[in-house]
Amino acid sequence: MQEHDEICVCFHVSIQKIQKFVRLNKPKIPTQISECYGAGTGCGWCIPFLEKIFEAEKNGEPLNLKMSREEYLQRRLAYHKKKKIS
Ligand code: FES
Repeated sequence: MQEHDEICVCFHVSIQKIQKFVRLNKPKIPTQISECYGAGTGCGWCIPFLEKIFEAEKNGEPLNLKMSREEYLQRRLAYHKKKKIS
């Protein structure tokens, strides 16, 4: 995944926007990231990834999402299918 890729597909919020939001607003807990264009408040798929961005920014570490944008989108689709079944 690249910084310009959408991490919250539901609300079209990029990794870069989330990183900038965390740097500027210094949220105390990851759920406050929802204040950034509603990220994480749709299907919920991106929440664990938003938490990873939060932790990386908080600790001053580089973000390491080990998957391509295509894989990310495919896994999101599988998540949606699974969610409908249960
Ligand atoms: S991808 Fe972020 S809430 Fe659905």
